[in-house]
Amino acid sequence: MAFVVAVAGKGGVGKSTISALLVNALARRAGEVVLAIDADPNANLGEKLGVRVERTIGDLREDLLKRADELPAGTSKHEIVRYQMQLAKVEGSEFDLLTMGRPEGPGCYCYINNILRTFIDEAIDAYPFVVIDNEAGMEHLSRRTTKRMDALIMVSDPTRVGIETAKRISALADEMGVKVGKRYLIINRVQGELSDELRTSIGPSVTVIYLPEDAEISKLNSAGASLASVPESSELRNKVRELANDLR
Ligand SMILES: Nc1ncnc2c1ncn2[C@@H]1O[C@H](COP(=O)(O)OP(=O)(O)OP(=O)(O)O)[C@@H](O)[C@H]1O
Ligand SMILES: [Mg+2]
Repeated sequence: MAFVVAVAGKGGVGKSTISALLVNALARRAGEVVLAIDADPNANLGEKLGVRVERTIGDLREDLLKRADELPAGTSKHEIVRYQMQLAKVEGSEFDLLTMGRPEGPGCYCYINNILRTFIDEAIDAYPFVVIDNEAGMEHLSRRTTKRMDALIMVSDPTRVGIETAKRISALADEMGVKVGKRYLIINRVQGELSDELRTSIGPSVTVIYLPEDAEISKLNSAGASLASVPESSELRNKVRELANDLR
């Protein structure tokens, strides 16, 4: 069964950057293709992984809704959705990428969403690892992209606001009845460590990981370039590799 990793946190703290590096690290660890899911409507995980996304699940959903009357009923409708989903998947050498795209507009999406959810759940289990890059904040948790998170990786900057957001996300996952396995809190772009007070506020059930500022990452991200050229020897990659090895 796939090991599902969800990456969440406040806006702009490095969720997508860390997701991309984690996809690389997990694929190399497993020696198998990893599934990356970009669940942020403002999608940019493809860019960081170095692939072009032509079609999102959101586009597919709109398209199916428009054509609902023309589609045959029953099994063949499912086949069409399954085929379309293959088209919305970008295949790289180390990963496959599904981009969720825009959220649904007004309309009756229940039927289509149910089919899509079934297929996504089915697709997930064909991979050793799935990494979900979430949008900022926590509203998406209530839309339930996944019912299960074998690891919840909260990302924060070294500020109280960032850490409070991470703690709220963690609590909300519990309230929503999401099954959470391990919990990590990444303090990104940190110099030194957190103050004792902030560190204590996080609590003991969360593994805290510090990631350094990395000038190369900053440069690649500003250029909208793939992070593939970040050297294997960089401290950031090393730390993400350690995390990948710790997951299961
Ligand atoms: N360790 C790091 N060193 C240097 N720059 C970093 C680091 N981590 C993230 N950044 C920079 O921070 C910015 C935001 O990163 P990223 O897009 O990964 O954040 P995000 O949490 O996914 O943002 P959003 O909430 O908009 O989706 C980028 O410009 C990126 O280059
Ligand atoms: Mg992002």
